[in-house]
Amino acid sequence: MSTVVAIDGPAGAGKSTVARRLAERLGYAYINTGSLYRALAYMANASGVPLSAIDADFLNSCKLEFRGAELFCNGRRLDAELRTPECAHGASVISADPRVRDFLMPVQRRAASHQWIVMEGRDIGTVVFPDAEKKFFVTATPEERARRRLAQSGETGAGATLESILADIKARDERDMNRATAPLKQAADAVLVDTTGMTVDEVVEHIAALCR
Ligand code: DC
Repeated sequence: MSTVVAIDGPAGAGKSTVARRLAERLGYAYINTGSLYRALAYMANASGVPLSAIDADFLNSCKLEFRGAELFCNGRRLDAELRTPECAHGASVISADPRVRDFLMPVQRRAASHQWIVMEGRDIGTVVFPDAEKKFFVTATPEERARRRLAQSGETGAGATLESILADIKARDERDMNRATAPLKQAADAVLVDTTGMTVDEVVEHIAALCR
């Protein structure tokens, strides 16, 4: 048995920070599922496999597992190397492939087994855990998400401007929301949390209150 709080929403809505802080607050484990898609994009790049050539053999050569919140691929911890614009883009592209999504499903379900967990992604409340106890769809306007991303730097490439980040966010939204398999969308029973103009503390407080 597990108890899942699903946090879904578009890129740059502040989901990761909110989900991690919420998990701490509730005393739950925390899993970021986007890192699985990023890890496959990273491994493909590191092994010289073009994203368009990802097949069953490649997928089966990637043994992905979470140990707590930490992700390991073939026994190697993957973390900072996944937080690049290249991995973000690659993850978004390969996440449209149903074979990739099928491959990652059991990894996600296993990560949640027998614990209380906050799991963050795009399709947690709709596909991975449709019976999750609590579901939140965390979003903000594209302009606000672009401003936050620019302020954080980190994942923005050198020379990125507000305009280029906004264009990138809109392109990712477009891909994530319009893919045929498990597109990004709010589950019918999810609570919409529009974080535009809210601080992280306010968002965590708001969601934690709804979880009680
Ligand atoms: O949350 P993130 O930016 O690390 O996610 C990277 C990409 O992975 C995102 O553009 C779409 C994909 N993704 C997905 O399709 N389903 C998930 N549950 C998590 C991420």
